[in-house]
Amino acid sequence: MIGGERHLLSMADLDRDDIEQLLNLTESFAEVGERSIPKVPALRGKTIAWLFYEDSTRTRLSFETAAKRLSADTMNFSVSSSSVNKGESLRDTVETITAMGVDGIVVRHRAAGAPHRVAQWVDASVINAGDGWHQHPTQSLLDLYTAREHIGELDAKHVAIVGDVKHSRVARSNAVAFAKMGARVTLVAPRTLLPAHLDGWPVEFTHDLDEVIDDLDVCYLLRMQLERQTDAVVPSLREFHTEFGLDVRRADRLGDALIMHPGPMNRGVEIAGEVADRPNAVMTEQVANGVSVRMAVLFLLLGSGLDIVDGKRAVA
Ligand code: NCD
Repeated sequence: MIGGERHLLSMADLDRDDIEQLLNLTESFAEVGERSIPKVPALRGKTIAWLFYEDSTRTRLSFETAAKRLSADTMNFSVSSSSVNKGESLRDTVETITAMGVDGIVVRHRAAGAPHRVAQWVDASVINAGDGWHQHPTQSLLDLYTAREHIGELDAKHVAIVGDVKHSRVARSNAVAFAKMGARVTLVAPRTLLPAHLDGWPVEFTHDLDEVIDDLDVCYLLRMQLERQTDAVVPSLREFHTEFGLDVRRADRLGDALIMHPGPMNRGVEIAGEVADRPNAVMTEQVANGVSVRMAVLFLLLGSGLDIVDGKRAVA
């Protein structure tokens, strides 16, 4: 269990101790990943269903790899070839899947709050793999893990989250996550790409990347979420790159501060192609650590403490 919860829905539900526990467990699972046969029987007999209503490459593959390394069975559900196209509601779809017996459901949905609704309908553990603009907790956990590996404890470290903050669930998740670990978080974006209100966000903000760049320990870049933008929010992507992109000149000023990005990257927009290939740009490590973090999450929610007794789930 994580923070006394059966589900992982939002970084807001975790306190610093929960996060530390998860990151420490992640370290053990990273060790499993380095073995010649990277597999443990921890979730043998458990079934996990993927419910992805939005596109995904790395998050989905990462969860699948994590589940396989834990020996869980998986149930694949692809919205594009399912009865969702025949008008089936989220609730009916979820009930159909749970009727077949699942222990965990990993949900990605375009609507903020969808995983919370699913959690109210089912006995299974629900993990949020990204809901609308709202939250993406496993991304935050892998980002904390990766940052900590490189720069140690995050207390008083300065993290900038740069770009399309307004439409980004990663920004919302990570602002909370890094702040909970004691970091100072600055959002950097044009006015049109910041949320209208920042009440309750544990952050500072600026519209000028050059103002903060010399002071950063982590420069976290976001993709322009064009699929979620309804108005023209920047004059052009080229102009955005000039004002807010991590180009070579700005990357030089970062020194050896970390460059992070959740992927997918748009080279030449939020980040110059050459900068994305520098040694302090740790995107591929983020992806690799994602598998270990998701193993830790699945194990905590579906493994320890919960066992099957007479075909029913019971607390061991
Ligand atoms: C992000 C997402 O889908 O929220 N990607 C990811 O999960 N690694 C960010 C994005 O789509 O830009």
